[in-house]
Amino acid sequence: MSNMKAIVKQSAEPDDFVLMQVPIPEISEIEILVRIKAIGVGIHDGYYLPGDAPWPYTIGIEGAGIIEKKGSNITNFQVGDRIAFVSSMQLKGGTWAEYAVVAGSSLIVSIPEEMSFAQAAAIPVAGIAALKAVNSLQLKKNDSLFIAGASGAIGTFVIQLAVAQGCIVAASASKINHEYMQSLGATITVDYHDLDWINQIKQRMTGGVDAAIAIQPNTAISSINVVKDGGEIISVSGEQLTSQRNITIVPYPHTGDMKGGLIDLMNRVTLGEVKLLIEQTYGLDKALEVLKKMGTRHARGKSVIVVP
Ligand SMILES: NC(=O)c1ccc[n+]([C@@H]2O[C@H](COP(=O)([O-])OP(=O)(O)OC[C@H]3O[C@@H](n4cnc5c(N)ncnc54)[C@H](OP(=O)(O)O)[C@@H]3O)[C@@H](O)[C@H]2O)c1
Repeated sequence: MSNMKAIVKQSAEPDDFVLMQVPIPEISEIEILVRIKAIGVGIHDGYYLPGDAPWPYTIGIEGAGIIEKKGSNITNFQVGDRIAFVSSMQLKGGTWAEYAVVAGSSLIVSIPEEMSFAQAAAIPVAGIAALKAVNSLQLKKNDSLFIAGASGAIGTFVIQLAVAQGCIVAASASKINHEYMQSLGATITVDYHDLDWINQIKQRMTGGVDAAIAIQPNTAISSINVVKDGGEIISVSGEQLTSQRNITIVPYPHTGDMKGGLIDLMNRVTLGEVKLLIEQTYGLDKALEVLKKMGTRHARGKSVIVVP
């Protein structure tokens, strides 16, 4: 077999996605060919592409599968290994396909035996973003933390990581997701559609919260209003903020070795210490539907594409 099914972007035009047959990419001595079993989905999959992407370009930056072939310089993984990985900006294409090329230098981890491919594909991108945001703050036991846009893929992890550190969590999302956020450990839930959500938090957290994590884009400017004087705020989408009331604007770290953190998070999911919600799974033939759904920014937990 030399061809595979893939979801590709056909041109630089927006929304020009299609399911088509493309050649299975060749690997070099420093690359791995993965037979994809599951793909984690995010809103970034539609636009986070190399500037010089060759069309048609297979989209997708995270996946889980079985090593089909490896280059001669790859010594730490073997053919047949079950791996999960993040692999972006690869000119040979991304993960929304039956096979994907992964550079040996990418973030690649073994999947715990008890973990399914779907679970393994659902963790890396959102899990790493959550770990980076939470670890960047100086959170201590009993600190209060506000999380804006907390019922999605990243928020699901952020709530639980903060609660596990002993923080008291206030979280925002539409009302329909309040019970879900409470089930993850949020003590206070507000609906960002309510005009007085800021007051609702301030009434419960006198003086404001110790820190805030703005997950959804354009939420940092309002989130800073619930942070107490001298507190901290970080924006996962890199929103620019001006400091006020001695609040520290913590930069989101785009680089850093996250392999240990990811392995630890996957183990905690396996042990049931951290809950993972896969809202829905899709086949490659329905992948364009999930891309559309992501664009609404109203996903709960994570969506995953599974490949037989
Ligand atoms: N920096 C990084 O490394 C990195 C990595 C991955 C993703 N990201 C970015 O981070 C953002 C979040 O990613 P995600 O995967 O968690 O998204 P997601 O799963 O699509 O999250 C959607 C959630 O955000 C809530 N939401 C939507 N609009 C909101 C608003 N105006 N105010 C507050 N909450 C709102 C939704 O709540 P309701 O449905 O209840 O309204 C939903 O629960 C995306 O923009 C993504 O591109 C950054």
